[in-house]
Amino acid sequence: MDYNKYFSSISKRLSPSLLRSMSKYLHIPEVISFAGAAPTPDTFPLDTLMTLAQRVKEKYAPDSFQYGPTCGVGLLRESIAKYLVSERGFKAQASGQIVITSGSQQALHLLGLLFVEEEDKIAVELPSYTGGLAAMAKLGGSLVGVAMDQEGLIPEDLERLCQKDNFKLLYTIPNFQNPTGICLSLKRRRQVLELASKYDFLIIEDDPYGELYYQGVSREIIQPIYALEAENQRVIYLSSFSKTILPGFRQAYLVAPNSVVTQLNLLKESSDLCGGIFDQYWLHEFLVEEDYPKHLQYLRQFYSAKARVMEDALRRIFTSVEISPLRGGMFFFFDLDTNLDLTRYLSQCIQEFKVAFMPGSVFYANQGGLGTVRVCFSNESDENLVLGVERLGKFFRKLKVI
Ligand SMILES: Cc1ncc(COP(=O)(O)O)c(C=O)c1O
Repeated sequence: MDYNKYFSSISKRLSPSLLRSMSKYLHIPEVISFAGAAPTPDTFPLDTLMTLAQRVKEKYAPDSFQYGPTCGVGLLRESIAKYLVSERGFKAQASGQIVITSGSQQALHLLGLLFVEEEDKIAVELPSYTGGLAAMAKLGGSLVGVAMDQEGLIPEDLERLCQKDNFKLLYTIPNFQNPTGICLSLKRRRQVLELASKYDFLIIEDDPYGELYYQGVSREIIQPIYALEAENQRVIYLSSFSKTILPGFRQAYLVAPNSVVTQLNLLKESSDLCGGIFDQYWLHEFLVEEDYPKHLQYLRQFYSAKARVMEDALRRIFTSVEISPLRGGMFFFFDLDTNLDLTRYLSQCIQEFKVAFMPGSVFYANQGGLGTVRVCFSNESDENLVLGVERLGKFFRKLKVI
């Protein structure tokens, strides 16, 4: 039976991601994967997990096993509010403005539903995270790319676009962006805020990587745009514990003005009633009892060492390619300066050379970025980082692009 005629236009706007379509090859043991964006299980606090699970049962049962509030468990929202003030430069934070979501991906999905209608114009970075782009595009939003350089999105380009079109939203990933690893400069964060107020659009600030900054980077650089706004009106801030604790619990949150939270909760209720309540109590215990800042410090050291291994390997093999030093996050992004459509060669690379990467073009809302490549170093051993880069070198040499 052909079900196509029954499917909604929204569902038909979606297509499987390149990564998912390759997943059957990525699980072959000898394949080294730089394609995804998963943290390594080596950093998951598994011993603590069991102790805290027991404690959640003792302290919070039966509530921890019941349905709970749509916006999330109150204790967790309070501990996140405190963390945002003590660690992320938020001036003050009411827990009532926080909604716990099932990953930031759910937050992006709900924000799409909340704001985007057919033909609405949404400014996005060129390139940007595919999951964020899909969340807006599937609702018929029209994505318009803003150019970037090494300081992040270029405000002059955003303003040029604003003079031509009315934008409802800007979607930005200011810290160690996925896919480029670039950080939006402080000056530009302020300029973006000014433009939002001058041209009347809202900012969705997606920040899963801000805490993963490496040597020589001060906390000031990663100050959320949300925290820079004098009176919060225009920024909706998203962050996640996927990269910093473990992704399997799907714990993330958004912070937004009160009326946005009220409306969003209606949508959330109709979508999941509430998120995983046990996991939320667990996370609350982790945040208050397990010294989260110390855990983050450990992650920064862990991943910055990995980043150095990959950077050295890339520089050794890709001698003619510009590799920018990484200041945080999980990705290197570079341009091989070729017009070859690398998406067409990915399966050959995986099957013949046993290494996977992400063609950068999948992150471009304007079909650009043909010769670009994203490699993620977070989920492979140091040995595999070196071996995988050597394999990539052989593959790109065969394609005659290096
Ligand atoms: C920029 C960005 N936003 C959101 C997400 C979704 O993360 P999660 O749903 O695990 O919180 C990711 C995942 O890689 C990401 O890179």
